[in-house]
Parts: sequence; structure tokens; C-alpha cells
Amino acid sequence: MPNGIGLRLLTGTITAVIVLSTLSCTKEPAGNTGATAGPRPIRIGLSLDTLKEERWQRDRDLFVQYAKELGAEVVVQAANGDDRVQMQQAENLLTQGVDVLVVVPHNGEVMGSIVDAAKGQNVPVIAYDRLIRNSEPALYVSFDNEKVGELQARYLLERAPKGNYVLIGGAPTDNNALLFRKGQMNVLQPAVDQGSIKIVSDQWAKDWLASEALRATENALTQANNDVVAIVASNDATAGGSVQALEGQKLAGKVLVSGQDADLGGLQRIVAGTQSMTVYKPIAQLARRAAEAAVALGRHEKLETTSKVNNGKIDVPSILLEPIVVNKDNIVQTIVKDGYHKMDDIYRNVPREQWPSTEKTKAQQ
Ligand code: BGC
Repeated sequence: MPNGIGLRLLTGTITAVIVLSTLSCTKEPAGNTGATAGPRPIRIGLSLDTLKEERWQRDRDLFVQYAKELGAEVVVQAANGDDRVQMQQAENLLTQGVDVLVVVPHNGEVMGSIVDAAKGQNVPVIAYDRLIRNSEPALYVSFDNEKVGELQARYLLERAPKGNYVLIGGAPTDNNALLFRKGQMNVLQPAVDQGSIKIVSDQWAKDWLASEALRATENALTQANNDVVAIVASNDATAGGSVQALEGQKLAGKVLVSGQDADLGGLQRIVAGTQSMTVYKPIAQLARRAAEAAVALGRHEKLETTSKVNNGKIDVPSILLEPIVVNKDNIVQTIVKDGYHKMDDIYRNVPREQWPSTEKTKAQQ
């Protein structure tokens, strides 16, 4: 990943955390006043649900990079979508004596108990991208996820104001999936009430699997006799499954499909015309804010945040970053410009003469 992106993306985020000092070392443990032992670096445990979707690898790499730049050490664990494994890994990180735990929960309810366990050991927990429910995390750093859902639905509704809609939600165990759906319905419900659109199928893809979205879309198309104008897919992985189902009925490119994450596969479908849009979430901003906050918390510094999100138990201090709509008209100005993906990769399957003009591209790179 080009080095410039992180810095470029860092500018223009919403204000939230003020890091109060720059040295990322813990205080001496009480009683350790030996002349030779300096303060040790902050140790951060990063517990990830999965590395399956492309974005999580980027999250991991950037988070580790930024934390290291701040002088901290990071131990990373990924649970392959298994609650029990994630719990054990997180417990292990606590046993190893991390100063801060950063968690992307597979299941936002289940991981509440690790927040409780960490609290018992005075280890603050940051809920990264996904909220951890019914517990007391120190911070929630994410994007405005309800807005993500609104952007997806609004894009489709503006282009298909009438007809049958299919909804493909994400993993019901992921609080974000519920927020995306909430945002989608904020936009779609008035059109449903007016009778201009009809939701003919409303399903969820377990673990965000493309195979689940494929099956759900196939069923929906069968039930609706292929009379569908738009598929509200909640991310690019599920959009991929839906597009595959559409291809099976020679409908790809004729039915609007949303997405999220600016995955390479999603962007390639956008330039091929089979997926309509994606929601781009500049991960560098998220990883940077989380790394800064983790180091500050590890040093027992106070964080100043501007938002709060209720998790069923407390109002969690939160940082919510802005998502960006991307379609084939602004891929160059957003994704390529930020170095998130390369022009050559995105347009790999498109004949060169159909690429956006290189003049424009060079100017924007
Ligand atoms: C994230 C999305 C991602 C999905 C599947 C959600 O919690 O916000 O960016 O596509 O999980 O990993």
C-alpha cells in the first residue's frame, strides 16, 4: 500500500480524540525503581473476528503500523469467525499482560464478557469498527454505520424509484449489520408506505458469506419471477453473491446492486457494470484513530470524544468517521487518488480504451 495514503486520509476527519502526550510507554510498575529498567512500551492486544474480507487485512496492517510508529507493540489474534476461539484468544492476550485490548467482535453480545474480564484487570477495551454490547468499553471507533445504510438505499432509490426490492443483510450477530439495515429502512420505508416500492425478500447472510447471499438472492428471484429492480446488498462480499445469482438469470447489469468496503472485487464489478455502487470507508483513518486512542489509554490518559453510542448498558464514548459513496464516476477521484486500490487492478478486466482518460488519472494520482 502506498505510504502517502495514510497521511492524506488523516486530514479532514471529525475531531474526537485528543492525545495528551507523545511518549508511548507505561509508567514504571510500582516499586520498580531500578536505575537500569526504563519504562516498557505500551502493549496492545488486537483481537479480530476474521481476516476473510480484504478490508480486515488492511485494518490489521495499518493499525500495527500506526501503533508501532507511536512506539507501541501489538499482538494480533484472528478468530476465523468463531466466538469460542475469539474469547480464548482475548483471554490469552489479557494473560500476556496487554495494557489495552482492541476488539473487532464476531458477536457483539458475546464479547461483552471479555470487556468485563478486562475491566477486572484494569485493562481498557476499544470496540473497533463493531460495537460491543452490554458492557463498558472505554471507546468505540467506527464509521457512521447507520449512514452507510442510508447511502446504499438512497443511491438505489434515486435510480429505481419504483418496483420490487430485495434486501440482503449481513451477519445478524454483527451490530453493524443491524445499523446498516436501520439506515436502509430510514430511506426505504417512506417509499414502501407510499406503495412505490415493494420489499419482496428480506434476508440475512450468516457471517457475511457470499454463498449465503447467492442462495438468498436465487430464492428471491425465483419467488419474484425475476421481477426485481434493486438488491440492497450490505457489503461487497454479499453483493458478489447477489451478482452471481443475477448472472445465472442473465440479469447482471440490469438490476441495481449496492455494496460496501471498496473491495477490489466490488470495484471490478462496478467498472464492469454489474454492481452499482460501494460505500468506501477510508480504513487508514479508523486504524490511526484507534491506534492513537489505544496508546493514550495504555498511558492512562483521558480521551476526549465528541459522540456517544448506547450499547445497552452505557453510552460508550465514540468516534464515528464519514463513509463515502463510490460509483464508476468517482472511483478515480476517491479510491485511486487515495491509493486504496490501483487503476490497473480495478480496470484489469476492462479494455484499455474504455478506461477513464490517463490525463485525468495522472492528474489525480
Ligand atoms: C464491517 C464491514 C464488513 C463486514 C463483514 C462489518 O462489521 O463494518 O465493513 O464488510 O463487517 O466483515
